[in-house]
Amino acid sequence: MNQKKFYITTPIYYPSDKLHIGHTYCTVATDAMARYKRLQGYNVKFLTGTDEHGQKIELKAKEAGVTPQQFVDNIVEGPKGVKDLWKLMNISYDRFIRTTDDYHVAAIQKIFKKMYEKGDIYKGKYVGKYCTPCESFWTESQLVNGCCPDCGRPVVDAEEEAYFFRLSKYADRVRDLLVNTDFLLPRSRVNEMVHNFIDPGLEDLCVSRTSFKWGIPVDFDPKHVVYVWIDALFNYTTALGFMNDKYPDSDYETFWPADVHFIGKEIVRFHSIIWPAMLMSMDMPLPKHVYGHGWLLLDGGKMSKSKGNVVDPYLLAERYSADALRYFLLRDFPFGSDGNFSNELLINRINMDLANDLGNLLSRTTAMADKYFGGNLPIEQDEGPEDAALLEKARGLRDRYEADMEAYAFQNALADVFEVIDNANKYIDATAPWVLAKSEDSKPRLARVLYNLAETLRICTVLLQPFMPTTCEKIFAQLNVEADGKTWDSATAFGTLPVNATLHKGENIFPRIDAAKELAELEALEAAQKAAAQAANAPAEEKEEKPAESGAASAELIGEHEEEITFDDFCKVELRVAEVRACERMKESKKLLHLTVFDGERERCILSGIAKWFAPEDLIGKKIGIVANLAPRPMMKGKYVSEGMIFAADTDVDGGCSIAFFPDNTPAGARIH
Ligand code: ME8
Ligand code: MG
Repeated sequence: MNQKKFYITTPIYYPSDKLHIGHTYCTVATDAMARYKRLQGYNVKFLTGTDEHGQKIELKAKEAGVTPQQFVDNIVEGPKGVKDLWKLMNISYDRFIRTTDDYHVAAIQKIFKKMYEKGDIYKGKYVGKYCTPCESFWTESQLVNGCCPDCGRPVVDAEEEAYFFRLSKYADRVRDLLVNTDFLLPRSRVNEMVHNFIDPGLEDLCVSRTSFKWGIPVDFDPKHVVYVWIDALFNYTTALGFMNDKYPDSDYETFWPADVHFIGKEIVRFHSIIWPAMLMSMDMPLPKHVYGHGWLLLDGGKMSKSKGNVVDPYLLAERYSADALRYFLLRDFPFGSDGNFSNELLINRINMDLANDLGNLLSRTTAMADKYFGGNLPIEQDEGPEDAALLEKARGLRDRYEADMEAYAFQNALADVFEVIDNANKYIDATAPWVLAKSEDSKPRLARVLYNLAETLRICTVLLQPFMPTTCEKIFAQLNVEADGKTWDSATAFGTLPVNATLHKGENIFPRIDAAKELAELEALEAAQKAAAQAANAPAEEKEEKPAESGAASAELIGEHEEEITFDDFCKVELRVAEVRACERMKESKKLLHLTVFDGERERCILSGIAKWFAPEDLIGKKIGIVANLAPRPMMKGKYVSEGMIFAADTDVDGGCSIAFFPDNTPAGARIH
């Protein structure tokens, strides 16, 4: 039989510093997906690794007074380094690639040469702005007030000989891939790529550097090193033996193309435009999906090593267990969106879901089995009216979970499991086993209740394995589940445990956390870490990895400064004056007013949550400001479609509101700048 294969990857991280909770988030998600596919019986290859070349690492090593190789070796292999972190987090990767590995270096040289021989890489002149003190090339659009974005000093015109990749040649095919297939997920990321990067015109990409040494030399022109992103992206194939002998070609044949690359949203451009274009050039199959997940934010901003606002996964995993941290990351933050990290959320989630719901269900079930039956359920059991609903929920769980996992909606898959756990806890309240235990006559019913609880728990635990592997083994041990009760198939087979199951109460899997005390301790620990990080980072600002890039502003750069938008971004928001032609209260909602406004061309409907502060007559006939090109939003279960937003300010502490009115003689439709 031909076993189905599944190849999944994380980004290869820069070992320019210790990894933080953001890297951990992506790796944990990838691990959960890999374990889920193994559970389903797939032949899985899970690749992670480190992206070790580039100017930033060269600089960091210099500051630390070591060679770049020593620097990265320490961060990757050293104490509390990348590999240690993945061990602590129980990451089941099959392969770990380091881009300084010999086989990778040699393969990249061959790949570069192949594209050169094909004519897709050519030698040209890089024309740009040069900051002499920083030794960095910039494009016009990267400059800040005409000066170097790193140091603020003036730049000069400069040219440099460089190799270019004919990205422009593949623009149409890449556009088609993004628009007409589900290559890039979530779908919401497609527009940005197409409108901001492809449609304005894809320029050829500068793919070599001469301004620093720490990279893979172009073997036929060794004063150039290969652009770090070319070096990095092909890791997904060299780690399968592509163009090298480290791993057998059969790995490449079996596993390429990847089923999915998990990456953060700031590197979607590299993975959804540059990567497929290079694969097209190489005549290689394209990965099936690229999934750009959201960011974990701290106090509303992206964590960044230089800001010192990073959360240390080591600290949290050691304190609360890797499983608790893994669960929290995948339960609290919908994978495609950004989310605010906080210790409070973490502790609440552990207490509510893991200690209360799951932990209690297990300890109540096993403790009652011990207490009432000495741990061995009798064969004689009676069904009851409460059973059908629970059994149905538990039997249907795997299908609901599978649908969510296939959509990479980890948060929903976990919510599905915890809904059943909640049902089981309610089933205890409804059946009141402690009452049943009072009479010998109801002992068979009591036995059935406990059996149903154990089976429901077993099914939930089977499906929690990808998320909390260590905990699940502990639960299985308390329920005496054998190998046949841990499989994917057994998750729909209610009744897998023998009727006379043996259940024994064991350790408390998730002790409740004293939230106030822990929060205070964490705060103190993190403040100390932050102070240490800032002291260590003080001399050097974090530098961008790829300054000399041709084309649009680097996505990385945007990523690190996400609070700011460019002037071009601002220009995309269409702000207009509109005349309020009608305004009504709504019977469906006390909060909303239903406005009909004329935008200079047509009337549109806007629902606005201002009914508390304004009466319809305050608005009718007035000229207001609206955002005119907001995607229409269905509201009230689709009964209305709101086509814009009005300018209103949150005022003062009691949550007041005021609206900006334009003078009556302002024409409707006037553009606001
Ligand atoms: O970009 N929230 O490496 P990198 C969520 N070497 N995820 C985060 C995060 C946050 N705050 N911060 C980092 C690179 N990540 C390149 C990749 S791949 C061929 C080359 C995660 O060390 C997220 O997955 O900057 C992001 O894409 C990745 O770490 C970037 O890691
Ligand atoms: Mg980054």
